[in-house]
Amino acid sequence: MPQIASLKIDEKEYPLAVMVGTEGERAIDTRKLRADTGFICYDQGYGNTGSCESAVTFLDGENGILRHRGIPIEQLANFSDFVETAYLVIYGELPNREKRKEFGMKLRQNAAIETQMQRIFEGFPTSAPPMAMLSSIVAALAAHYPQLATNNFERDLVNFDLAAAIAISKIRTFGAMIYRYQKGLPYVFPKQELPFCDNFLHMMFSDPYTEYIAEPEVARALNLVLLLHTDHEQNCSTSTVRTVGSSAANLFTSLSAGICALSGPLHGGANVGVVQMLQAIYDEGDDGTRFIAAAKMGTKANRLMGFGHAVYKNFDPRAKIIGKACEDVLKKLGINDPLLDIARNLEQAALKDDYFLSRKLYPNVDFYSGIIMRALGIPTSLFTVMFAIGRTPGWIANWREVASNPKGRIYRPRQIYMGPVKRDYVPMDQRA
Ligand code: CMC
Repeated sequence: MPQIASLKIDEKEYPLAVMVGTEGERAIDTRKLRADTGFICYDQGYGNTGSCESAVTFLDGENGILRHRGIPIEQLANFSDFVETAYLVIYGELPNREKRKEFGMKLRQNAAIETQMQRIFEGFPTSAPPMAMLSSIVAALAAHYPQLATNNFERDLVNFDLAAAIAISKIRTFGAMIYRYQKGLPYVFPKQELPFCDNFLHMMFSDPYTEYIAEPEVARALNLVLLLHTDHEQNCSTSTVRTVGSSAANLFTSLSAGICALSGPLHGGANVGVVQMLQAIYDEGDDGTRFIAAAKMGTKANRLMGFGHAVYKNFDPRAKIIGKACEDVLKKLGINDPLLDIARNLEQAALKDDYFLSRKLYPNVDFYSGIIMRALGIPTSLFTVMFAIGRTPGWIANWREVASNPKGRIYRPRQIYMGPVKRDYVPMDQRA
């Protein structure tokens, strides 16, 4: 393994240090490139740029590997639950019994939304997009808890455990509130004695006369969906959280920015797109041929939703787990969802098609997650909010890395300017 790489520009050679990660990932350190050579690296979309060192998640897209703090996603999906995995991702180790209890207690104690914050909802039309409501209300946490959101890393880290618990627990509660607000239903208070996912389902579906008690299969399926979304390396929303956090912005503000980034259809919004696509195929009595043909035209607007990934060029390990869980959950709940058959057929057709094969486009986590959420009674409009609830621990872990790095710099990429060269201001009466 070379410890030095070199770059030759015209006749001059410049040595560049090589960095190697704990899993053998290699990088050429270009931090001094501009100062030494006058050149910058051009990498639109940062697909080939390491923006940070991180100890949270390891992802090998060529081999379909995903590990949180070293532990394979398959083992976490089999043996852990969302809250435990959240702890692992944030604090770096699996909690012992005492730490797990303490963490769970903090989440339970911070689940309820104070009256003042409940009123924020009244400013939104009931038809407001759920992710727009969620990002606004999470940004409002910084206004509601100014003592935890000082925009000073040292002070905010002292209060980190509480701020993290507030974020995880309340973002879940906000999700349920958004659902009820859209339906014109009153807010249901959380119950301290309920586990995380059961409490969410209670806040969604209980009413003053009938308490919703989640079947164990339902709570387990929700746990799995959230767990599979806990973290995913430097994706669009996580790097947004890191970027915003790098300016010393507090945790809540940074999370709100992450939620905004997640709302786009090419990122978290894809789970909505998948179900809309499957539903359209069902309504038209089509076999999916039209969607596949349109997707092959290569425009962003017509992409096959739930297919392809910026970093997985083999398969998405989360899609394997969730695809299998989807069948099991529907069977256990006795639900026959025609969209599952359509999804399976579409997957088979795409995987035989050279367009998808040659571009290494396989189903991603969103391809099947929506079908499970439908089975749990969660409406399509709330799917991306569910993704945000699941991803919150990953965002928090990444924000903490930024805040705790004494050598961290503000994120500030450069650009190649392609606009007009210098020209003079023209007074209004002389303009064409
Ligand atoms: N349908 C049709 N063509 C596609 C698709 C798709 N879903 N995804 C990529 N392509 C094409 C793309 O047009 C390009 O074609 P060409 O080489 O002819 O120009 C080629 O495949 C390579 O694309 P890429 O550079 O690997 O893709 P990307 O990194 O720009 O985009 C993506 C990654 C996830 C945004 C994209 O695959 C996509 O839009 N998928 C559909 C939306 C989706 O399911 N998103 C959820 C991702 S998983 C959840 C998450 O972590 O956010």
